[in-house]
Amino acid sequence: MKNLDKAQVIELETNSKNAIVNDPWKLDFHLMPPSGWLNDPNGLCESNGENHIFFQYTPHDTKSTTQNCWGHYQTPDFVHYTYHLPPLYPDTEYEKNGVYSGSAINTSEGIKAYYTGNVKHPGDHDYINTGREQNLILAENYNSKTGEFESKTVLMQNEDYPSDMTLHVRDPKVFYKDGKYHMLLGARDKNDIGSILIYESKDGRDWEFVETVRGNKELGFMWECPDFVTVDDKDFFIMSPQGIEAEGNKYNNVYQAGFLPVENFGKNSEYGEFYELDHGFDFYAPQTYKDENGRSILIGWMGLPDTEYTYPTTKNNWIHALTVPRVLSQKNNFLYQNPIPELKDLRGEKSTYKLDGTKETIETPKVYELILKNPSQKGELIINDGCLINWNNGLFELNFIDTKLSKGAGSGRDIRRTEIGRLEKLQMFVDASSIEIFINNGQYVFTTRYFPEIFEKLEVEAKGDLKIYALNPFDIKRTDGTDLF
Ligand code: FRU
Repeated sequence: MKNLDKAQVIELETNSKNAIVNDPWKLDFHLMPPSGWLNDPNGLCESNGENHIFFQYTPHDTKSTTQNCWGHYQTPDFVHYTYHLPPLYPDTEYEKNGVYSGSAINTSEGIKAYYTGNVKHPGDHDYINTGREQNLILAENYNSKTGEFESKTVLMQNEDYPSDMTLHVRDPKVFYKDGKYHMLLGARDKNDIGSILIYESKDGRDWEFVETVRGNKELGFMWECPDFVTVDDKDFFIMSPQGIEAEGNKYNNVYQAGFLPVENFGKNSEYGEFYELDHGFDFYAPQTYKDENGRSILIGWMGLPDTEYTYPTTKNNWIHALTVPRVLSQKNNFLYQNPIPELKDLRGEKSTYKLDGTKETIETPKVYELILKNPSQKGELIINDGCLINWNNGLFELNFIDTKLSKGAGSGRDIRRTEIGRLEKLQMFVDASSIEIFINNGQYVFTTRYFPEIFEKLEVEAKGDLKIYALNPFDIKRTDGTDLF
């Protein structure tokens, strides 16, 4: 196919709209692609009260391909959104196989984006040590009327990265701290050790290499999508390692996403233990940003590459979504994630139940938020006959293959478990085909997609104070004011 352009994207989105609108699994309060495939959140930033959420977007296909562009949602309040046509297409030779992931900064000259221009040369290559270009590109002169970046500059190419790296060097995260710009690049070194390259710059254009933060064999061969966040004066790296072996209940997905507490960020960075950010089936490549109120907000890809899950939405021409935005906090160097409070503005009718431990069936709204307080230490929820959530003396489980369930809602997902200690509080966001579970005020999170055959049914066997709020859908308009879906 020819290189993606605006006219083609409009046509693809117009053709997909009807099938998406009528899809029972279309999401109401999660950002999804208007056509085709979505992966990583990119370029998260706030500028003049507007939050910009860019994302990896392949509108012509529901498989990940090499022609990604960036998609773009914008919101002042996380309830009302504007969808803009892609601001970045693979339209130069430096990115001809994809405008890959990256970040954005808000400057006095407007939003600037840094990303990886992916180029794959035809031929007999392993695409690890040969055959690939990873160009660091700066996109500037963002025009808030057209939603486009009017200029692109290549800042670094293969030969500029340290010589002990393979050609897997990508996903620039740029941020301003202590009077200068910093950049992290995710990398795979020549010994197959996942790494983060740290750079510094005074002007955001000329970058000086500072150091390589290296993992070890246990932490995988490649670290994608590196990030850095300071919460209450504590620093953390966030990254998405590939190649970590499963270990009991840990690291059960094909790839992981997690954080490392950091000391002495810069030349002598040291890091502590790696923790997963999510214990469910569908979470990868998260990115953070500081909003204008100083909150650290994290958004993840509610999906993963290279899984064995199936996605029945592909027949309606779309796949994947982003998680709800989550506000980060920390306790003892451990990151907590809580749903952004603005989601409360979606709340509609509320129902409350005093659960006494006997089995009950509740008729729920199709999409809702559930809060269980003062819970018993053993309990069970079955959502829409398809998803079993249970906890028993500290072990929390998300299960799609239990014999009590009607089969298939997990589409290839089986069981994820984690030790949580005492269950203090459970908060869940149930959309038409996703569930996000926040345990003990954000200490543990489980994110999953699922595709139930029925809706509005919840079976509960637990004690506690249960509240269920119907949630209203996001209001999403195109730049011209028409409805996106
Ligand atoms: C992570 C990732 C990034 C890359 C992008 C391409 O999911 O593989 O490393 O930039 O996706 O879409």
